Amino acid sequence: MINEEYNMISAATYLFWSRIMKEHAIFIESSLPPPQSRLAVQAKQYHNQFSQLFRRVILLSNGVLTEEILASEQFLTDFTETAERDFEKFFGVPANIPLTVSEQHIKPFRADIAGDRQLRARFSEIGGQLLRETEAFVLFQQDMLNRRVSCKLFFGLYPSALNHLMKEAKRFIVEIKAIESADAAQSDSFIAFWNQGMSEHAKSLRGELDWTEEKEIHAANDYAEAFDMLASAAPDRVKSLEYNTRFAKYAENVTQNFIGCKLLGIMSGLYCDHLLREVNHFNWALKH
Ligand SMILES: [Fe+2]
Repeated sequence: MINEEYNMISAATYLFWSRIMKEHAIFIESSLPPPQSRLAVQAKQYHNQFSQLFRRVILLSNGVLTEEILASEQFLTDFTETAERDFEKFFGVPANIPLTVSEQHIKPFRADIAGDRQLRARFSEIGGQLLRETEAFVLFQQDMLNRRVSCKLFFGLYPSALNHLMKEAKRFIVEIKAIESADAAQSDSFIAFWNQGMSEHAKSLRGELDWTEEKEIHAANDYAEAFDMLASAAPDRVKSLEYNTRFAKYAENVTQNFIGCKLLGIMSGLYCDHLLREVNHFNWALKH
């Protein structure tokens, strides 16, 4: 892989996933009841570690990515900063808003920067650190999940939601390794992964909307069924894009209405925005 391609794939992959991992740690941290303060401290450590790595990824990404991908709303949306402010206010967990502000100001592609050999070495180094951190994070989540399904532990996430977060961490690990083994040629494995993921996003929304919000609940249920079917069939880019484009609009409406207090479910605005970015990420991957 030439330096420019390596740097671009690294920046796009690490920018997307390191924020996602940071937020997973925040969601776990804020889901733990008072008797689990030790686990909450561990989750906070992952939150802090991923924030530090994310900060460095933001700095390294200046001049590497095209304006088109920076505007694809997979890294940030128009709602992210507001959702983070709300999260801090309601949960008392700092969401690192200065990072979001610096992410909003990432400079677009410049040929002399994007192809830099030393930048490649830095991306490679941070990829190794993200790999180790994410592998440890998977073990942490697996341990929590094992204890949850044997009813030795309780937290305010569906067990399947924690499993979903863990599957995403494992996907990130696969993508880091693919960059390092120069296996970046996009295989179709992401299609089944994200169709399954979108079904789970729809199911989590279905279960976290207020039960009076029937229109949104029915729509979420329809998306869950559609994505389950897509995930169990052979990868189909055209159909996946068709459904995911509609799901992106739905997720955007839910996020906007939740943040605007027009929906009253028990999810957070940051969770809605997080999910919207993942939907946008899948759309981008299907188109490129
Ligand atoms: Fe997800």
